[in-house]
Parts: sequence; C-alpha cells; structure tokens
Amino acid sequence: MTIAINPFIAAIPTNPLRALFPYGARPGMLNLASGHPSKDAYDLEGLAEAASRASRDFSAWTYGSSAGDPALIGALAETVTTLPPGKRLLVTSGAQQGIDLAIRTFAEPGSKVMVPEPVYPAVLSTCAAIGVVPVGYQIAAGDNELAEFETVLQTAGDVRAIYALPTFGNPTGETLTREQRLRLLGLCARHGVPVIEDAPYSDLWFRAPPPPSLLDLAPQVDGATVIHLGSLSKIMSPGLRIGWLIAPESVAAAMQEARQASDLQPNALAQRVAWHYLQLGRLIDHVARVRGLYAERHDALVAVLTRAGFTVPVVDGGMFIFPVLPADKGNSDLFERAVVQDVLFAPGPAFRAQPDSGLFADRMRLCFAGLAKADIVVAAERLAAAVHA
Ligand SMILES: Cc1ncc(COP(=O)(O)O)c(C=O)c1O
Repeated sequence: MTIAINPFIAAIPTNPLRALFPYGARPGMLNLASGHPSKDAYDLEGLAEAASRASRDFSAWTYGSSAGDPALIGALAETVTTLPPGKRLLVTSGAQQGIDLAIRTFAEPGSKVMVPEPVYPAVLSTCAAIGVVPVGYQIAAGDNELAEFETVLQTAGDVRAIYALPTFGNPTGETLTREQRLRLLGLCARHGVPVIEDAPYSDLWFRAPPPPSLLDLAPQVDGATVIHLGSLSKIMSPGLRIGWLIAPESVAAAMQEARQASDLQPNALAQRVAWHYLQLGRLIDHVARVRGLYAERHDALVAVLTRAGFTVPVVDGGMFIFPVLPADKGNSDLFERAVVQDVLFAPGPAFRAQPDSGLFADRMRLCFAGLAKADIVVAAERLAAAVHA
C-alpha cells in the first residue's frame, strides 16, 4: 500500500541551491554559489560568551511566550530594527519562518502571491507547500513607474500579497530606490494588497545606508500595509535561527496563532543567546567589520569578472551579484566546466519564478561573503577560464 502524500507537499520543488551542497564539499572547490559567510565573518568569541551566559538562564530551558522572549523583543526593537507605533514584533525562526507565516496568513490554496523575477527560490518552496501560485514581476533599475508590476497586479487575479526584497536582493544584490518603494507601496495600497518586505540583508551596506525600509515609508502612503521581516542570520549567526516579523496588531495576532499551530514558540536557548549577545554590545563593531570584509571581497570579484568580459550590475551591499556572462558564453555545460576548474556558481535559471520562462540563462549568482579576498580572486579567475574555455 502506498501512503498518500499531500499533493502540495509532493510538489515542493527541489531547492536548486541546496542541491549544490555536495559539489561545495569537494576538496579544493572554491564555492561562489552558496550564501554561506566564511568563518572569519562571525564573532565566534562573542557568540561563545553569549552562549555560556545563556546556558545559565533557567528561561533558556523552559517553555516561553509564542510571540518570543519579551527581553529579546525589547532588545531587537531598541538595537536592530524600528518598531513603529501600533505594530507588534514576533520573534521567528529566521526570516524564512516569517515568509511562511506571512504567506500562510494572507493566501489560501489556489490564490496568488506576486514574487520578484528573479526570485529567492525558497519563497517558491513556501508557496508550493501552501498551495499558493507564485506570479513573477520585474522592476528594472530606473523603472520608476513600475508599469509592468502594475499590469501584473491588475491582471493576475486573486493576488493576496506581494513578496518584495527591496534591499540588496537575492540573487541580484539590487536595491529599489526611495521613489520605487513609494510607488510600490502606493500601487499595493490602491489595490488593497499587503506587502511582505523581506529584509535580511539591509545592514550589509558598503558605501551608504540603503533608502528607508517599506516599513518606515508606509506611514507616508495611505492604506499601505507592510509585514516586515528581519533576521540575525546575516549579521550574527544563521545557525541560531532567530529572525522577527513586524506587523499591524490584528495581523500579528493571526500570525501568532499560525505560528503556535506549527511550533508553539521560538527556540528559548537561541533567544537567550541572541539577547546576551546584544547585551555584550559587540554587534555594531562586528557588523562594521563584516561590511568592510564584504566590500573588499566584492570589489576584488567584480574587478576580475569585468576584465573577463562579464557585465556586472552595480550593487551597494548584501552578499550577492548576478552578472551577465560575456556574449555567447551561456551554454549549457558551463556549470560542469566550472566544476572541473574547481569553482562553483549558482546558475541563473535556478532563480526563475516561472520555471519555463527561459529567463536568466546568461546569468549566474555569485556570493562574495564566503571566501577570503585572495581566494575570491582565484575563484573568479577559474570562472573566467571556464567561461572562455
Ligand atoms: C532573501 C532571503 N530571505 C530569507 C532568507 C532566510 O533567512 P533566515 O536564515 O533568516 O531564515 C534568506 C537566506 O538566505 C534569504 O536570502
């Protein structure tokens, strides 16, 4: 007898990035594909101290509030995010749980959620698991009207939410301007559709801070509803699995119920570690150091690629670039040739919102957070050799 699997679960697409893990583990491989920061981009000493202190707190070992540890909520609102009046902050298991809760809260099976094209693939997995249909939208640099976005919003039918990644996107690294943000909020408000703002990379700017978040701009736009998702993954530790969502009171209450139905509460020990780390007062200096590391790695990567004929759209922060291959070099065995050269990249098509769109065959996502500057240069040279072989 075969056991029936819920068809929505059976249809979750394989995450194309996780499928690359075995290649990344090969000895000698230089991995530009995975969004995994190098060991020196962690404050391991500070984390060890925080973990040691946390382990002595009784509250680390017992049940707690499903909204999260009140002390951590207070510390997050004070140090790493803004909490506007009338909004509630819930601690989540990373931004990923925030994406799941937000989509689950707004969209029922068969309805639609608009997602950027190209997209962070785990959003597609979430949509599939819930039975929600993702519909891609594109906002190009300099597109202040968001005409294509508006057309999709008007014509897709039954759109329940917009998933947006306006700051240092994944995979593109690109950032929406203030004007584009206001336009996006205005269009969503006009159509009565909430925006899920995923913002795990916002603190990783190189030159100047990014424009205000959609959350911070929303009060300027009548009727705009923003669910803002943040995370400690990119600035403290992804293994802790601590993120947060900020939502209007009534929406947050529904999300809290949804989270309780799934995992009761955030991990108590991880929350205490995060809280103690924030109390140590090391985060600001740590993040400043990481910004410097990533900026120099980014510049080194872009310099080699540009010399090798890639077109690299400018990014001002985050962990990724999404360059265009030199003309006529986007053939299908490039990935294998790069593996032979001991370098790994994430192929552009892995980020398609519509799998059959044919988009991004000439692009690749490269992460500049995971390798030291000298290794980034070698990796980029190997990639250039594979492209021109
Ligand atoms: C755009 C985006 N959103 C969410 C996540 C998930 O982050 P977290 O570790 O906070 O769950 C990632 C992780 O890479 C990401 O790139």
